[in-house]
Amino acid sequence: MNVYDSERLQGLLLSKGHRITRNPEDADIIVLNTCSVREKAERRALGRLSEFYRYKQRNPDVMLVVTGCMAQRMGGELVEQMPYLDLILGPDQIFQLPEYLQNHSDYSRVAVCSSREDFDFKQIWESEILPQRKTPFTSFVAISRGCDNFCSYCVVPFVRGPERHRPADQIIREIQLLTESGCKEVTLIGQNVNSYKFGGKDFADLLQMVNDQTKIDWIRFMTSHPKDLSEKLIHKIATLPKVCEHIHLPLQSGSDRILEKMNRGYTSQDYLQLVERIKKSIEDASLTTDIIVGFPTETEDDFQKTQDMMEKVKFDSAFMFRYSKREETKAAILVDDVPEEEKLKRLHTIIQLQKEISKKKNQNLLGKTFKILVDETSKRDENKWKGKTKTNKTVIIEGVKDLLGKIVLVKINDADSFTLFGSP
Ligand code: 5AD
Ligand code: SF4
Repeated sequence: MNVYDSERLQGLLLSKGHRITRNPEDADIIVLNTCSVREKAERRALGRLSEFYRYKQRNPDVMLVVTGCMAQRMGGELVEQMPYLDLILGPDQIFQLPEYLQNHSDYSRVAVCSSREDFDFKQIWESEILPQRKTPFTSFVAISRGCDNFCSYCVVPFVRGPERHRPADQIIREIQLLTESGCKEVTLIGQNVNSYKFGGKDFADLLQMVNDQTKIDWIRFMTSHPKDLSEKLIHKIATLPKVCEHIHLPLQSGSDRILEKMNRGYTSQDYLQLVERIKKSIEDASLTTDIIVGFPTETEDDFQKTQDMMEKVKFDSAFMFRYSKREETKAAILVDDVPEEEKLKRLHTIIQLQKEISKKKNQNLLGKTFKILVDETSKRDENKWKGKTKTNKTVIIEGVKDLLGKIVLVKINDADSFTLFGSP
């Protein structure tokens, strides 16, 4: 969601006549869009912000802007610590940046804007400004903002605010504009896409509309909360030709006691049954997940249950994190009692486990042929191409012809835990 906001902000600034430079020394305005989901992300952003002082010293007129969730969560604190910052805009104010730039002299040097009533999101959703992407062939499209789930460890509902759904016709319009500009694939994004609702339409209906009413080739989506992945949605994923057969389904923990404390709304049994239904209905479905280790009170036995689930489900890949306490959340009042060392040990254990599972799953694909959307050249070797399967696996492709932006049939010759290698 942050990447999308950054890309959309770039599109917006370009439309107002600004230019983008990758070199901060050349810039008149420097924007850091921040994330608060884990402590590590915040620490990294604080490091970057402390470097900003240099730019101000060199050029006192440079405008230093902090946007996103950290701006929302600790705006005042940031300004106190770093008085050289000029403007702080939360996730709901980020797209007001051009207005602030225009009325430069109208606001006190430091403006901390984090009131949710300030801004009507419709303006942005209705505007026909496209995100400025790394490659033209693929794009995110937001279908909602915010979250109402309040998982006990998670800061997102506090910083991004309540769930708001984007009107379906505006989603369709954005995708139509994207396809006209050469985009082949969209990823519909929301904190929980499954809870999408607008004008009597749910997420399954939205997938049907995007499938039928746009010329996009492939449709991806994320993230799916396991508690509300309906039978109707599974059926749509299985049958709509453009919809990719990949579901990102965060498990978080395999222990029912921990899941309850996390306020996730399902048990490990519910999750397994859901996975069974997905595997039965969607041929060759790929499943990926998020896992947290070291949630308060997590015992060795709870952690074992997480590993057992990973063995049972055999995820294609996983994002794995150690728990970090986030202020305001419900879990913040629990004692963060798993020692850091133990969290790291558990994290390394499951990273290793997942690596083995991913490798085995990927090696099962040797000799098979898949459609790949080629969207980049390989970073390691400019003579090779990089793309993804519909199941969201990265493939490096040998080949001399220009494959960029094309959907090509590729035979898989080799595989490791993270990448497939093939030839057209
Ligand atoms: N500590 C560790 N991981 C977290 N996540 C969210 N909040 C925390 C936290 N406090 C992880 C979850 C979520 C992903 C985006 O980040 O796994 O699915
Ligand atoms: Fe956070 Fe839970 Fe909402 Fe995801 S569903 S953003 S983990 S509160």
